[in-house]
Amino acid sequence: MELKIGNISAVELAKTYGTPIYVYDKQIIIKRIQQLKQAFANTKISYAVKANANPKLLKIIAQEGLSADCTNRIEIKQAQDAGFDIKESIYTGVNPSDKDLKKALESGIIINLDDISILKRLLKYGKPKAISFRINPGFGKGKFPSIVVGGYGTKFGMNKDLTREAYKLAKEAGIEKFGIHMMTGSCVLHGDYFIELTNAIQEIVKNIEDSLGIGISFVDIGGGFGVPYEPHEKPLDIEQIGSQVEKVYTHDAQLMIEPGRFIVAESGTVLTTVTTIKNKYVGVDAGMSTILRPALYGAYHPIVLANNTEAEYVHEAHIVGPICESTDFFAKNRAMPKIKEGDVLAIQVTGAYGFCMCSSYNGVLRPAEVLVDGNQHKLIRERETLQWKS
Ligand code: LLP
Repeated sequence: MELKIGNISAVELAKTYGTPIYVYDKQIIIKRIQQLKQAFANTKISYAVKANANPKLLKIIAQEGLSADCTNRIEIKQAQDAGFDIKESIYTGVNPSDKDLKKALESGIIINLDDISILKRLLKYGKPKAISFRINPGFGKGKFPSIVVGGYGTKFGMNKDLTREAYKLAKEAGIEKFGIHMMTGSCVLHGDYFIELTNAIQEIVKNIEDSLGIGISFVDIGGGFGVPYEPHEKPLDIEQIGSQVEKVYTHDAQLMIEPGRFIVAESGTVLTTVTTIKNKYVGVDAGMSTILRPALYGAYHPIVLANNTEAEYVHEAHIVGPICESTDFFAKNRAMPKIKEGDVLAIQVTGAYGFCMCSSYNGVLRPAEVLVDGNQHKLIRERETLQWKS
């Protein structure tokens, strides 16, 4: 069987737009958003822009009524341009610059800080109506060590022992509305973890409220909802997670989540052409400059032969790119069908942390991006071209 994205043949898309190319299936994004909305019926959902900031995809997500989760002033601008309600969106900076802080203040976005020192710096430029702090509860989880972003030894968030001092300072500065935030890990496929997080954050909320006499008006448990990449991995039962989280959450403050991967990962496929076959090495025209995750984390992505997804596996191959690094591989010893030069391979589940982590290493130009919606397809980002600057 030939691989289809929406109703369109992947091989045809590769012919039309060239390779390597990112292709997204709009309906998968819409479906994931609907699942989240159903599962988390009483929770505010902010899309983590960092997962995929293609302007067209951002527009689609904004139109579905989600708010945005932004990392810096660029992402705040991207979210504004896409039509997200910025006052309902959240900005969580990591070591923000003064420019980031000024932009955040001026935009009216909810500001979430990961240190007391940043509050002091922010107050030089103005006083936000609301403030939130990112708390590091002392634990975290994630598919790879590099994407665990909670627990001591990570640079993220404030040690929970400092929580009281932070909110006290904010209260003394005359801030009237408070929120709290945690983001402790990415690509978590254990549903119980989200319950654990919700309980942990509620306990902290109770301590602050009791000891400082302030009320917390929003509680953000972060993103981190995983998707299956490997054959043995099972999808999260998001319906069940949502209802359990909302059940154990007993506070009346607005509950928030900020998923990135869950919304866009499975919509994305990279199409790449086989250029060279050398022993076990199958060389393709995409590389670690196109998809960094395998080189950076050892991440697994499914790879299928686009013109025959059911072809019998006949050998174990290393699928490698054109970059001069030994880490430039997509698969090692992967069972694959017979592959020949000119074949198109589809590297799947690349909609999250794919294009946005591209580089121009080795002078490689960034790929184009295409959106498929049923029978329609269109270019949503041009392939990068060489622009010499002297
Ligand atoms: N909120 C904050 C503050 C975050 O830092 C992140 C991701 C998210 C939300 C969204 O997390 P998600 O729902 O997508 O797990 N490059 C890595 C992932 C790094 C995630 C960083 N933070 C990867 O390719 O797996």
